[in-house]
Amino acid sequence: MGCVPNKRRKMEKVRVGIIGVGGMGSGHAKNVKELEETELTAVCDLDQETVDKLTQEYNVPGFTDYKELIKSGLVDAVFIATPHYFHPEIGIAAMEAGLHCLSEKPIAVSVKEADAFLEAAKRTGKVFGVMYQTRTTPVIRKAREIIESGKLGEIRRTSMINPDYRCQAYYDSGTWRATWSGEGGGVLINQAPHGIDIFMLLGGMPSRVTARVRTKLHKIEVEDEADALLEYPNGAWGYYLVSTDEAPVGKRIEISGDKGKLLIEDEVLRFYSLKTSIPEFTVENKAMWGGPEIVEEKLELPECETGHKAIAKNFARCILEGEKLLAPGEDGIKSVEFINAIILSGKKNKPVDIPVNREEYEELLETLKKSSIQKKNVKVQRVTDPGLTEKRS
Ligand SMILES: NC(=O)c1ccc[n+]([C@@H]2O[C@H](COP(=O)([O-])OP(=O)(O)OC[C@H]3O[C@@H](n4cnc5c(N)ncnc54)[C@H](O)[C@@H]3O)[C@@H](O)[C@H]2O)c1
Repeated sequence: MGCVPNKRRKMEKVRVGIIGVGGMGSGHAKNVKELEETELTAVCDLDQETVDKLTQEYNVPGFTDYKELIKSGLVDAVFIATPHYFHPEIGIAAMEAGLHCLSEKPIAVSVKEADAFLEAAKRTGKVFGVMYQTRTTPVIRKAREIIESGKLGEIRRTSMINPDYRCQAYYDSGTWRATWSGEGGGVLINQAPHGIDIFMLLGGMPSRVTARVRTKLHKIEVEDEADALLEYPNGAWGYYLVSTDEAPVGKRIEISGDKGKLLIEDEVLRFYSLKTSIPEFTVENKAMWGGPEIVEEKLELPECETGHKAIAKNFARCILEGEKLLAPGEDGIKSVEFINAIILSGKKNKPVDIPVNREEYEELLETLKKSSIQKKNVKVQRVTDPGLTEKRS
């Protein structure tokens, strides 16, 4: 899995087909058209009008059945931007047909489906990437560098507070949105994955969560607030909160280690290093009110390509030249584990260990899906967050 250059056909550009060309997929179409490593050669959407719009705009063949696109011979790789439940089904079919695959987040709604997606990538040897573009920002690249260099030391505590406001009109913009049967969750499965991805990347994966989930503000059947107490394999504790009912939005992360503390507030990164590590200072210092000397390090953020385009470009370069993937598909399961654990814990009101019990989660999800009620008052809109495309195309 990972970067396997295509040996069968010498490619100058990766021929990309986009499956699901609504809000996000149409943004990907524009990027694929603009990048020098990719060529947009087909699009697919269940909705005929959407297909017609895109085929006219880009002058490429269109399909309403993803299986037809996959077997068309027109593409080397697919980008999947349908509602989440379809990601593994379409991705597995594409890889089994010899195509590389870039999946939108989350790679799946449940860990069991994510396992199957990863297994298919391993078995077929196709390049499998996930659209986790938040990883590409200068702040996250620098924070990873600090942690990987060992400057933070062993992690003692983490926290992430991630409000990401949505109004009712957003939830009413699609029949699938905010339903157990169409989406498989609320804020956790839709807005939270990017934040969780970087939280796991920097703080590691907890081994146990004790969570709460609830629907506080919106007229939806899934959660718009969730929080969790976290326990890590080394005994560290953490806290996590996500919601769509609070403004202004933001991402605040604290990762506290033996040798320092890293703070992220959206695009601002601070790193405080300790002259003496906490375990050492605690036993060696003899003065009653002593504390370790703290230095705020001056950080230089890297200049780099960011956003969806950076992930798409890197994915294509992985296929063409074997460049290391910035967001490998196998990393995509981590956020699904965390999300499933929170939902399971919140719904069953008990601590849940990670890895999540696959069968227990499937059973819960099936029950929740059965409770799903078809939405009324839907005004379908296929438009992605304009702030997202402007800031991080
Ligand atoms: N990476 C990001 O920044 C980002 C941002 C927004 C959305 N997303 C992800 O993109 C996906 C789509 O979200 P969206 O907001 O674009 O939704 P959307 O409703 O605007 O678009 C989804 C499109 O998929 C089509 N579709 C549904 N089932 C299909 C199928 N089986 N085959 C082909 N087409 C199908 C729909 O007709 C629709 O046009 C979600 O998984 C979401 O999490 C990612």
